[in-house]
Amino acid sequence: MNKTFLSLVLSACSLTANAGPVDSVFVWPYSNRNGDGLHLRWSSSVDGKKADITNGRLVGSDFGAWGSKKKMFEPSIVEGHDGLYVLVFSVDVPNQFGVATTRDFISWTPQHYPYMKGVEQVARPCVVKTRGGYDVVFFAGDKAGWLKTSTTDLIHFTDPVPTAAASQRNVKIPYGFLRSLQANEVFVRERDAKHNERAKDDAKRFEGLGDFVQTSFTFTNDSKPISDKLMGIFFEDINYSADGGLYAELVQNRDFEYSNADRGEWNATTAWTLVGEGATLTIDDKHPIHPNNSHYAVLDVRTFAANNTKTPSVSLQNSGFDGIVLKKGDKYDLSGFLRVDNTAQAAVTGKVGKVNIVLRDGDKVVGRTTLSAPTHEWRQQKAVITATADAEKAVLCVEPTTPGCFAIDFVSLFPQKTFRGHKNGLRADLAETLAALHPKFMRFPGGCVAHGNGIDNIYNWKETIGPLWERKAQPNLWGYHQSKGLGYFEYFTFCEDLGMEPLPVLAAGVPCQNSSHGGHGQQGGIPMEEMDAYVQDVLDLIEWANGDATTTWGRKRAEQGHPKPFNLHYIGIGNEDLISPVFEERYLMLIKAVKERYPDIIVCGTVGPFFEGSDYDRGWQIAADNKIDMVDEHYYCAPGWYLHNRDYYDRYDRSQSKVYLGEYAAHGDGRKSTIETALACAIHLCQVERNADVVAMSSYAPLLAKDGHTQWNPDLIYFNNTEVKPTVDYYVQQLFGQFAGDEYLRSEMSVSTRSHRSDVECRIASSAVRDSKTGRVYLKFVNMLPVEVRSSLSLPKELISSDKLCKATILSGAYDSMTARPTTSLVSVSPQSDLILPSYSMMVIEL
Ligand code: AHR
Repeated sequence: MNKTFLSLVLSACSLTANAGPVDSVFVWPYSNRNGDGLHLRWSSSVDGKKADITNGRLVGSDFGAWGSKKKMFEPSIVEGHDGLYVLVFSVDVPNQFGVATTRDFISWTPQHYPYMKGVEQVARPCVVKTRGGYDVVFFAGDKAGWLKTSTTDLIHFTDPVPTAAASQRNVKIPYGFLRSLQANEVFVRERDAKHNERAKDDAKRFEGLGDFVQTSFTFTNDSKPISDKLMGIFFEDINYSADGGLYAELVQNRDFEYSNADRGEWNATTAWTLVGEGATLTIDDKHPIHPNNSHYAVLDVRTFAANNTKTPSVSLQNSGFDGIVLKKGDKYDLSGFLRVDNTAQAAVTGKVGKVNIVLRDGDKVVGRTTLSAPTHEWRQQKAVITATADAEKAVLCVEPTTPGCFAIDFVSLFPQKTFRGHKNGLRADLAETLAALHPKFMRFPGGCVAHGNGIDNIYNWKETIGPLWERKAQPNLWGYHQSKGLGYFEYFTFCEDLGMEPLPVLAAGVPCQNSSHGGHGQQGGIPMEEMDAYVQDVLDLIEWANGDATTTWGRKRAEQGHPKPFNLHYIGIGNEDLISPVFEERYLMLIKAVKERYPDIIVCGTVGPFFEGSDYDRGWQIAADNKIDMVDEHYYCAPGWYLHNRDYYDRYDRSQSKVYLGEYAAHGDGRKSTIETALACAIHLCQVERNADVVAMSSYAPLLAKDGHTQWNPDLIYFNNTEVKPTVDYYVQQLFGQFAGDEYLRSEMSVSTRSHRSDVECRIASSAVRDSKTGRVYLKFVNMLPVEVRSSLSLPKELISSDKLCKATILSGAYDSMTARPTTSLVSVSPQSDLILPSYSMMVIEL
């Protein structure tokens, strides 16, 4: 810290007058060396002692890749116009700096990162108030010296010009701020403690509570219509959810398009091994099948042929995704593009090349066929292989039987038993597990995958339709490869199969705010001069989905085998973005264009990655100002958050945008799905159901995770090549999906403990809905206490006139159980009856 600070920092503007109360203080902004964020330090006027105002930072940087990679350096603050304080800071790229404003140092506007074109560095930025706005003065390196950029709106900055050096001065802030910052820190600490309450401490917490808690459950003779699309699924290609997961393709890197852009150690031959002698394998790109699929393998077995008369004993083997699983008697569609390589033709003129495709499990052959490479032109060859034995780790071998030089590409092996038997379809057991959730919609293709790691990685739906070899593979932001074999056509088909509303989410013209490619963080967005084309891409999607076969894009859908429209009703724009000016400009441009051209499409915007904060506030403000149909909320919180925010949506303004709770999960110790996390979500879903007049849709996230390839925990369903392993959270989602309604029946559940205990109350929840189509009523109860809850039910005569045996589905277990599963039984229910909810349980009763 600057040494002059001590002498300069003087509190109390009234000190000089030596009279009146201390009403303001001078503070000094700084960030720790590791760039953790803004701290304010002040000096006491009484004894000169200096101290940080708060223990923690006041605001961190949002600039850069995930988590601690987001750095704030050299913060500078000025008291600006109209009671605004302006913060600027340097970030860890040379030609940008951060800007944000606040009125109280508690709430901040979203950050903005202006680019200083052509400058070598932005160091020691200092913000200075000017008559009409602000200057930011910074050191641009020894050559350029000090430069200044000016702004009137803190969004647009002029090109920098030379200026004199400037440095941060102490900032005067009202004394009241100190108190409120400190009070806020205490409040946040208290709040965090509640959110961090864990079931492992329940025995102690509820010591003396007795063996059970008594409650009463009554209806209030009141009901309201609620969304009939409340429960859905969030599909993102994370954790190998697509290739190697839901997408049933068995050959990994079938098109030789893997590269080190996907993952450092990968290349075009990843998952392929050349076994045997007398052959070479090279990767070429001179005569590709399609420019989008530019690499192919060239297997040269001429040398071998010249020296031997026997069949070449060479094998190019693909290990699949952790091995290829085969089932005895099942049929597999094999296809591959082959040709005699032009460059090598001289050596093999007149011969038709032949290759065996052999499925081997160790030494055992478990299936085979032969393909030919008859010409110099690429030709797709197809065959069906029947597996002669079960195998879990088979390999697919390409084995030339004639000498020659073979170009090979797009080698594919698909089980015929895909979900609903679709070609290029989905792995049946996984798809069935999703179907069993009774989802009413599916969001795709992510998450962060939708807006991508840097502008060049933004997911482009047009590259995911049509012939597979014309689709454009892409590095997946989660550190692997996406073939796009599972593309928009397949997503929409799956939605149609399950009667789900498709909810495609498209980038709002900006990449993921956590991008680590192409600069850091959100970057400048798609250049404005390219935005018209991007907007058109979004409009084309709607035409592709809904247009008839005479429209340009509808025809493409029809050509792919779906002449009937898909009936798209929803489209998402943006994914938990940083609501910066760069974002806002592009986001509104897109939303306006969609609504103008397709007023009936329900547009779902975004309000950032948390349940509060600058993106949330600004996102909601934009939604209100622009009357956006729906916004996508995300929050991953500790179980305690859900318990202590049971009225979160009760407070939502019904006249504003609807909510799509697009991503949420309870994150407990070790990020596992347990009874504790699942019941926390169940308690939350009770309020979501109660508020399903404003919360129109919800989806737990993420959905799928493959063992050994998981970037994120917990997920709803884990799997490997042979097993599907739904988590405890899966069953809570299923209970809400299966026992859903379109009418909410208001009810009250009151707890009678000797003394009022909010910690008991917040662990009990209930909800009642009616499905107007079937007339069925579902009562849901959640008990997240370590003891039984006994509830006296008072049910109206219209629901139940006499004693009846009703089906009850119960999910319960130890709080840390990862294996609990629902069971069903019959319970006796009458207009007045007693119900026992086991400890740590969810129960659904069907009336
Ligand atoms: O669900 C995993 C990730 O969480 C999503 O990709 C992203 O939107 C969120 O941060």
